[in-house]
Amino acid sequence: MKILVTGGLGFIGSHTVVELQNSGYEVIIIDNCSNSSTDVIKGIVSITGKQPIFEQFDLREKNKVDDFFSRHTDIEGVIHFAASKAVGESVEKPLLYYENNIATLVYILQHLSLKASSSFIFSSSCTVYGQADELPITENAPVKIAESPYGNTKQIGEEIIQDTCKVTPNLKAIALRYFNPIGAHPSAEIGELPIGVPQNLIPYITQTAIGLREQLSVFGNDYPTSDGTCIRDYIHVVDLAKAHVVALQRLLEDKNSTNYEVFNVGTGTGSSVLEVIKSFEKVSEEKLNYKIVNRREGDITAAYADTTKANHELGWQAKSSLDDALSSAWKWEKKVRT
Ligand code: UFG
Repeated sequence: MKILVTGGLGFIGSHTVVELQNSGYEVIIIDNCSNSSTDVIKGIVSITGKQPIFEQFDLREKNKVDDFFSRHTDIEGVIHFAASKAVGESVEKPLLYYENNIATLVYILQHLSLKASSSFIFSSSCTVYGQADELPITENAPVKIAESPYGNTKQIGEEIIQDTCKVTPNLKAIALRYFNPIGAHPSAEIGELPIGVPQNLIPYITQTAIGLREQLSVFGNDYPTSDGTCIRDYIHVVDLAKAHVVALQRLLEDKNSTNYEVFNVGTGTGSSVLEVIKSFEKVSEEKLNYKIVNRREGDITAAYADTTKANHELGWQAKSSLDDALSSAWKWEKKVRT
């Protein structure tokens, strides 16, 4: 069964391709390599022993999208990762984000809605909840006004899919709201490779420990949390990848009660920045150079998932601990730099 994975060479996409191939699916990847490399294919092949089909083009080129779907009429499911994801950049270049994240989504849905049957999984984010009023966050928590064009593309993306599903019964879709994906494949054949200075906590930690960055700045210790630092729900990328496979199976087997559903994908446990540092120091046996600095603009105090819906409906739950995830991120960092 053929599954299209857009952005399949990226961090979450590549781990999902591995899980799909290990579950017997035939994968076609579309990626423009704007934030990834074709070297990732070697990693995928070395883990799975299978070569995914790969086409390099930009989904903003509608004629190429049209041509792709006219050549591949037997695609049964689409997992759509391809998108820009830097919050700060989205504030500077909103139109780039709306074109990359929204126009491309529309082009793909236009094709899927013409098919007799199709299954679609969308990469959404817990960013849609903003600072939720209640923790842990359930899928019923209200969507808050987006803090950035990036966050807005996730909200608008969900609405576009929902509106399309309403009038297209043959289209079945699931939006997965990711919490904070971290870590790497335990083989260290694939992992996260941020371009330039990392914006996210874990790659900044591992790059500091390996000597690429001098010091980690901890953004604020005056939040109303137990140790004053922000709390997030860090999920191992392999657990997250597996959630895509079970969500896809649910769509393909027609087990969903409606043709559009939303699931939180997290561990259900919140960890503070200082707890993450402590866990990293334990698993890596490295002392991390860090200092407390001012808060980062736009950061929320705390977010962690209520995963009951995914546990019950998808039969999925995160298996890896924070230690496991950080240990895999460290193994990957050491491999990449040597
Ligand atoms: N942090 C630091 N120092 C750093 C980087 C991060 O202290 O150098 C802190 C942040 O203040 C925050 C925590 O580490 O408290 C996690 O920060 P990340 O940047 O790793 O993750 P965020 O939760 O801010 O953002 C992530 C994604 C966004 C997405 C958001 C909500 O990067 O794309 O989750 O889904 F919008």
